[in-house]
Amino acid sequence: MTEQTTPAHGENSRKVFIKTYGCQMNVYDSTRMSDALARDGYVQTEEMAEADLVLLNTCHIREKAAEKVYSQLGRLRDLKAARNREGREFMIGVAGCVAQAEGEEIMRRVPAVDVVVGPQTYHRLPEALSRARAGDRVVETDYAIEDKFEHLPKTDAARTRARGVTAFLTVQEGCDKFCTFCVVPYTRGSEVSRPLAQIIDEAKRLVDGGVREVTLLGQNVNAWRAEGPDGREWGLGDLLYRLADIPGLERLRYTTSHPRDMDDRLIEAHADLRKLMPYLHLPIQSGSDRILKAMNRRHTADDYLRLIDRIRSVRPDIAMSGDFITGFPGETDADFEATMDVVRAVKYAAAFSFKYSSRPGTPGADMPDHVAEEVKAERLERLQSLLIEQQAAFNQSCVGKTVSLLLEKPGRFPGQLIGRSPWLQSVNVDAKGVEIGDIIPVRITGTGPNSLYADMVLELS
Ligand code: SAH
Ligand code: SF4
Ligand code: F3S
Repeated sequence: MTEQTTPAHGENSRKVFIKTYGCQMNVYDSTRMSDALARDGYVQTEEMAEADLVLLNTCHIREKAAEKVYSQLGRLRDLKAARNREGREFMIGVAGCVAQAEGEEIMRRVPAVDVVVGPQTYHRLPEALSRARAGDRVVETDYAIEDKFEHLPKTDAARTRARGVTAFLTVQEGCDKFCTFCVVPYTRGSEVSRPLAQIIDEAKRLVDGGVREVTLLGQNVNAWRAEGPDGREWGLGDLLYRLADIPGLERLRYTTSHPRDMDDRLIEAHADLRKLMPYLHLPIQSGSDRILKAMNRRHTADDYLRLIDRIRSVRPDIAMSGDFITGFPGETDADFEATMDVVRAVKYAAAFSFKYSSRPGTPGADMPDHVAEEVKAERLERLQSLLIEQQAAFNQSCVGKTVSLLLEKPGRFPGQLIGRSPWLQSVNVDAKGVEIGDIIPVRITGTGPNSLYADMVLELS
């Protein structure tokens, strides 16, 4: 459906294939880049084979993620050589966090790359491509003084509609926390919040394009701060109250939040706002205070547990999710057991966990007592089996309950639709007389490996 906004068609239109790695912010950035390229006549394709431009939107968070980019670029180099032999244009662009961190190195190692743009400079992508077409190789990674959002085309209703009934909306970027394992403060720069009016405008436009659920994004989304219409400084809680007033916007979520930025107003929003879904992704990384200190998290395990108690006291049905790292430098068996204790205490509905990956340029890389790979892996396995057990228990506890479902897409079988529960579970339902975008009550009847099953019911009980 992208054709609707594309000026050129058929023989003349160029095709872009975008491959997105990493976090939701990259997913959001890819949609914005696709919109910017559409204005230049590019139609997005899902087939790399038919692309005239391949754009890799990359992630630098762990070594494996960054390495993937170079192996992919190796394949693209060969594809480009084959295309050029046929006399066809084929361009390669690299965006995202690897581009930001290693832009010059990418250019040096892979001469076939035409353009490199960073997360704060991708509004310059169309111009960079036209310079590349004229023979330059372009690296645009200096932090722009201008606000990229002011320069990007606004997404129109037709393109939004083609993307479905849920959408991401980046409200905050960058990070000033400098956890000692993490590259994000270097790849995304310091914390910047988008102004309130820009966010409200974008949210309304999404609703006009059929979106019913918006997930606010930020590396530290709850560090969002901006001036409110009352002249006071608003935080994420205030923003959620304001967004909840937008008619047609039925569900709100936000991710990722940092425990230190969960303020009273945000907790109040969880208590008050029916539209704010009872699901919170709140990473702790480790349950050991010694390791948390070495990680520069600036909170203890107890601070985290007490915070969750406070949130649960106002919103008892909230489902918790988190991120964990095993084998941070110096982590002992006892430190790891402390992480397992936190997990047992919280009972997560979902979680992401990773082996520590040493990243050049971060303080963690220079710390003593790096943990052996096998130990990291063994701890990760134990942690993950506990987390999987908890997720299964949470899903099982939903069986028999009547919950609201936002219908998102067709299911595997005719007559079936897939929707999301308030707790972000994927739910299959045999649906009659309803359509994608509807929010309906269903009764959960069973659980599968990756999703739940439900029947339609008439009323929410
Ligand atoms: N801003 C978010 C997370 C950003 S990165 C926060 O503060 O929670 C997403 C997750 O990747 C992190 O929560 C962490 O668990 C993981 N991660 C980051 N750097 C890592 C590294 N060097 N090795 C392993 N996992 C890492
Ligand atoms: Fe990385 Fe820590 Fe910032 Fe999250 S808060 S992005 S983990 S430095
Ligand atoms: Fe990766 Fe950058 Fe996101 S490093 S996790 S794509 S902020």
